[in-house]
Amino acid sequence: MDFKLTEEQLMIQRAAREFAQQQCLPGVIERDEHQKFPKEQVEQLADLGFLGMMASTDYGGAGMDTISYVIAMEEISKVDASVSVAMSVNNSLVCWGLEHYATEEQKKKYLTPLAQGKKDGTLYIGAFLLSEPEAGSDATHQHTSAIDKGDHYLVNGVKNWITNGSTASVYLVMAQTDASKGPKGINAFIIEKNTPGITVGAKENKLGIRGSDTHAVSFMDVKVPKENRIGADGFGFTFAMKTLNGGRIGIAAQALGIASGAYELALAYSKQRQSFGKPIHEHQAIQFKLAEMATRIQSARLLCYHAAWEKDNGLDYTTSAAMAKLHASDTAMWVATEAVQVHGGYGFVKEYHVERLMRDAKITQIYEGTSEIQKMVIGRNITK
Ligand code: CAA
Repeated sequence: MDFKLTEEQLMIQRAAREFAQQQCLPGVIERDEHQKFPKEQVEQLADLGFLGMMASTDYGGAGMDTISYVIAMEEISKVDASVSVAMSVNNSLVCWGLEHYATEEQKKKYLTPLAQGKKDGTLYIGAFLLSEPEAGSDATHQHTSAIDKGDHYLVNGVKNWITNGSTASVYLVMAQTDASKGPKGINAFIIEKNTPGITVGAKENKLGIRGSDTHAVSFMDVKVPKENRIGADGFGFTFAMKTLNGGRIGIAAQALGIASGAYELALAYSKQRQSFGKPIHEHQAIQFKLAEMATRIQSARLLCYHAAWEKDNGLDYTTSAAMAKLHASDTAMWVATEAVQVHGGYGFVKEYHVERLMRDAKITQIYEGTSEIQKMVIGRNITK
């Protein structure tokens, strides 16, 4: 067992840290306040090769391992989780899914520009459309239909909470073709956003990750060519689940970053703020908080690295990804709340960043499978 990062991983860490500090930190409070999508920052991610980090170089990706991806996600999430969620969805849910399950033609047409994050010089990212108004955790009960019409499918329905909803050029959409077959009757499709019949709803006004581009997307008689189906007929739910297993590592890393960002701010503040004649970190009440934050963060980091390592080594990482997400998201929520407490009144105002990290932390316990769903996945796997 080797806990040391490689030279390449350390280089990624430095590059991601520099990008976060120099490009994401300026304006992060204003983007949060005005719910402004960080387009410029996401374009810079494309230039860094961070939108297709794990995709093969044959398809325009950076060909890196999952641990490098976790490291980059942690650094960027320390500063702006609205930037990192766009990165995570494109890497884990879009590029990874296409690389592993799409045909060669689909990969050439879609994966290559998505992994590069650009097409003809403009931003080109994807979104993953599984959730619906009445199918969030209960994802097998898809109401969106994809009726087989011979040479094409006709798609109708509404998808909810779609990250990159209005910015994405390509949607990966799950829809029910044969309800009598349950999950085995679900298909996954590559649908271009500019296809007639697609309407993007208003941006959601959210508690956290306010810069992130979250929308409902409706489909009305949308014609999707047969060659845009991913995998065999009925493979769509398995596609979604297998893809989400990796997505959960990405969100775990995002949660880890939110936690470590909040911790670093609390630690710095505790050294500079004086009370009762000494820096507050010399008070045991604060020192114990910092000690517990550091310990919980390190355990979340090890779970993230372990899940990433299992994935990179071809092992089944379903359980370890769910454990990493469950623990890292609880850690993010707890650490960010304690970081606000360490800051006292200053923690409650926007200029000190920790209140935003606390609001951003909450979503990590919800999206890509709630904490309750992660417990269900872990519970089922350890008892079978
Ligand atoms: N990995 C691989 N396969 C899986 C799986 C996993 N994690 N979870 C389920 N499956 C498979 C099952 O093995 C089963 O296949 P077989 O019939 O061949 O055995 C099939 O999927 C159906 O599963 P279940 O019978 O277990 O169905 P269920 O309804 O009892 O449970 C569920 C399914 C696990 C609850 C699933 O619906 C789920 O994970 N729900 C959460 C959905 C989710 O994570 N949504 C996130 C939305 S995307 C998002 O948030 C992106 C974003 O923008 C940030």
